[in-house]
Amino acid sequence: MKTIAVLTSGGDAPGMNAAVRAVVRTAISLGMTVKGVRRGYNGLIEGDIVDLDVRSVSDIIHRGGTVLYTARSPKFKTEEGMQQAIENCKKHGIEGIVVIGGDGSYRGARDLSLRGIPCVGVPGTIDNDISSTEYTIGFDTAMNTAMEMVDKIRDTAQSHDRCSVVEVMGRRAGYLALQCGIAVGATAIMVPEIETKLSDVITKIQDTQKTGKKHFIIVVAEGIGGVEQMAKEIEEATGIETRATILGHVQRGGNPTVRDRVAATQLGYAAVKLLSKGIGNRVVGIKKDEIVDYDIYEALNMKKPFDDDMYEVAHTTSI
Ligand code: ADP
Ligand code: F6P
Repeated sequence: MKTIAVLTSGGDAPGMNAAVRAVVRTAISLGMTVKGVRRGYNGLIEGDIVDLDVRSVSDIIHRGGTVLYTARSPKFKTEEGMQQAIENCKKHGIEGIVVIGGDGSYRGARDLSLRGIPCVGVPGTIDNDISSTEYTIGFDTAMNTAMEMVDKIRDTAQSHDRCSVVEVMGRRAGYLALQCGIAVGATAIMVPEIETKLSDVITKIQDTQKTGKKHFIIVVAEGIGGVEQMAKEIEEATGIETRATILGHVQRGGNPTVRDRVAATQLGYAAVKLLSKGIGNRVVGIKKDEIVDYDIYEALNMKKPFDDDMYEVAHTTSI
């Protein structure tokens, strides 16, 4: 391939810029020309495509967000949108694309690959909910941000002998809630993957209170939601003053951690290596600290089991 493109799609994640940088520099070092598509698949449809050179990606490895912008593009799922995207690829001489995003973005990459534009998917989401990889770009930064925020909430919960119910991101996945919950020593963690009754959380609070605990952190994944109501019910049942906090988009921003910068660089590099050999319709990922790649169709059909052992560790150590 002589010319490839790179785009970021779906929810942004810290480390996406490091991946873009790696894609651009690897491709150029292999003699290819690189185009940046702005605002995900919308940029392909609208022809919002810019030339990138080695210096276009200077000074971005440490920045959160994505310099290419990102978007969710309903039009791309239509035949008309897809045709416009393909026409623009032809117009700009784009022979392959690195798509940085989540499972939804991988579906788009699969559709483009099937229509003659080979794509390679790079996993980027703070949720770590992509089945074909053990790790997604942005997860570590988001976990650390959430942990720091909850540490601050704990300071005030401790001063007032209160309970704090904190919602962390993850509409469909509880990986962020689980690891953040362990890291902050949460009394209970509620995730979409494991059914937990609020009455069990209340019992746990009361049990730990009996052994002298005076302040409590309950971490709840966004997919469970309802933290304000939970706080009310906990206060009514226990008599402990309880406050609810939704951390929200603070978790999506900030400078990427070492882990995210390194993973993004390795994954971006690996994606371009595949395209440079003419291989598309693949995704790259990390398995046992090694970079791996799979057919997109296979990747989308994989299942990622929730880490029940880690959940048990959290439960056992929070008594
Ligand atoms: P993520 O990639 O983070 O999972 P989304 O699910 O929002 O985020 O997907 C990002 C974009 O990928 C969508 O806006 C759409 O343009 C494209 N996409 C999602 N699902 C499909 C699909 N089934 N077929 C084709 N394109 C899709
Ligand atoms: O997929 C990343 C994520 O931050 C989820 O944790 C969250 O549910 C969702 O995106 C929120 O998306 P947005 O606010 O961008 O619509």
